[in-house]
Amino acid sequence: MTLQVGVIGTNYLGAAHAAGMAEFGHTVIGVDIDADRVKTLNSGQSHIFEMGLEPLLERHTASGRLRFTTDYSEIADWADVHFLALGTPSGPGGAADLSQLNAAVDTLAPLLNKPALVVGKSTVPVGTAMQLERRLRAASPAGEGIEVAWNPEFLREAHAVEDTLAPDRLVFGTHSQQALELLEEIYSIPLTEATPVVRCDIATAELIKVAANAFLATKISFINAMARMCQAAGGDVSLLADAIGYDKRIGREFLNAGLGFGGGCLPKDIAALAVRAEELGVDVLTDFIRSVEAINEGQRTELAELAIDQAGGDVHGKRIAVLGAAFKPGTDDTRNSPALTVADYLHARGADVHVYDPQARLPQRHGFTQVTTVEQAVRGAEVVLHLTEWPEFRQLDPEQLGELVASRIIIDGRLKLHASTWLNAGWKVVQIGRAGTL
Ligand code: UDX
Repeated sequence: MTLQVGVIGTNYLGAAHAAGMAEFGHTVIGVDIDADRVKTLNSGQSHIFEMGLEPLLERHTASGRLRFTTDYSEIADWADVHFLALGTPSGPGGAADLSQLNAAVDTLAPLLNKPALVVGKSTVPVGTAMQLERRLRAASPAGEGIEVAWNPEFLREAHAVEDTLAPDRLVFGTHSQQALELLEEIYSIPLTEATPVVRCDIATAELIKVAANAFLATKISFINAMARMCQAAGGDVSLLADAIGYDKRIGREFLNAGLGFGGGCLPKDIAALAVRAEELGVDVLTDFIRSVEAINEGQRTELAELAIDQAGGDVHGKRIAVLGAAFKPGTDDTRNSPALTVADYLHARGADVHVYDPQARLPQRHGFTQVTTVEQAVRGAEVVLHLTEWPEFRQLDPEQLGELVASRIIIDGRLKLHASTWLNAGWKVVQIGRAGTL
């Protein structure tokens, strides 16, 4: 059945969700306070680089099933369900900043004149949904008729559309049968495709999301700690990851060692979980997450220090080439990017850092130089750093680049280059966790 769906917030999550809801056959209105973004989306274009999003936006804005507005009153009594897809960035001390969510419900609530279901998709500290429900009920003419449910998203940037249309699982956190049935109707298409679904209380739904992110971050930090062991003992962390990954209980995914995790989600979500655990007196979880974070931060420093060593102990005035600025390949997002932390670190020590990325545009605050080709980045470089594993970097010709650099030294921060090809072309290849290529 076709439902009328409101989606509040239209960044990575909201834009993909709104387009996905239209693809599932619903009529959708996305709301955002950013008028420029609304205009772009209404013209069927995407304001972010996200594979597959623009074709969906084009198709459904053209079919009339999807449009965007800045006016909440267009969705208030129109929508059968209101999704909250707003950002929850890091606030003071790492706690989640809920101001966008609060502002959205404060705008929506007075406009809701009849019973409504408001469904959160954002990642939040456990307990937030019930707070939002109280806030909505207090300010809405429909009062107790307003209900909140939680249906967290698990989408990865660069795969946002795929993860929205074919999710690994759906989580429905509700406290009424009516809300559950409405969610089942909204997701009837993936449900008929046998997508696993977890029906649970709201607190569990909120926690499932942060637990998933904490576990992914833990896998990465674990393998990075093992990378340090390999380096100390002369082992090879990639082979180690392959071998333990064949064990079905472990799995190979998220065991790629290197520069560690970044982006707009994992770091801030686990930081917020650590704070919430502390508030609830669950110190063991806080301590656990702090270790995961410390290992992750350590990888960035370790790599930058390796670069300084390879440049002869001092990078002052020396050209360093950085390949990659996005926090991972397939996106132009540089939020909390490990590559930029390393570039900043070296720049702060006087290096002349030249950065190339196929998609990401650097924020203004950086002091280093962004260039538009790999060749420009590596010309005259004392050390080349491979920090984001874009597939095109695997195709580079070490012979040809060798002609441009000052020294044939490359540090592979993502363990993704064919080391032997570089070694054969006379390069020194340094890889964290793979002593054999040093
Ligand atoms: C993540 C979660 O995967 C997603 O489910 C959640 O909803 C939002 O946060 P995303 O931020 O898009 O998604 O990035 P992801 O693909 O998970 O990668 C996170 C970081 O970990 C990247 O910086 C990546 O380079 C790094 N990573 C990933 C590793 O260092 N090693 C790995 O093996 C995998």
